[in-house]
Amino acid sequence: MSERTLVLVKPDGVQRGLVGEVISRIERKGLTLAALELRSVERAVAEQHYAEHDGKPFFESLLEFITGGAVVALVVEGPRAISAFRQLAGGTDPVDKATPGTIRGDFGLEVQYNLVHGSDSPESAEREIKIWFPNL
Ligand code: CMP
Repeated sequence: MSERTLVLVKPDGVQRGLVGEVISRIERKGLTLAALELRSVERAVAEQHYAEHDGKPFFESLLEFITGGAVVALVVEGPRAISAFRQLAGGTDPVDKATPGTIRGDFGLEVQYNLVHGSDSPESAEREIKIWFPNL
């Protein structure tokens, strides 16, 4: 059964020219793109997207980072797309958790600047897709 997940290439990934690399890994895995948009992020969208982190010490700096440059938002589709993309991304911390061979493990050094986001559950995917692509 096919599943959808919301993927972001964050401002660090866009600025470093890694959009093609991320999309290429998604496509080589066999997943497909159901939506793709390069866009700037309003604070309200960032707050909604990261609502579960409201109150955490890094929340404000996370919002500043994610609204500080263009992101590429994608809806990625395929069998077990949520887990499949999270495996491609690697763990949240690019050094301590993500292993080489993953996007974060290959290109990241700091937890905030971890290049990509992927929904962590079917509920999150549904919620996040509605935030980024309300007309999908
Ligand atoms: P993401 O998968 O988009 O979900 C929440 C984001 O918060 C995470 O990736 C990181 O970019 C960021 N984050 C998580 N933990 C920390 C932390 N300890 N310090 C700074 N940023 C963090």
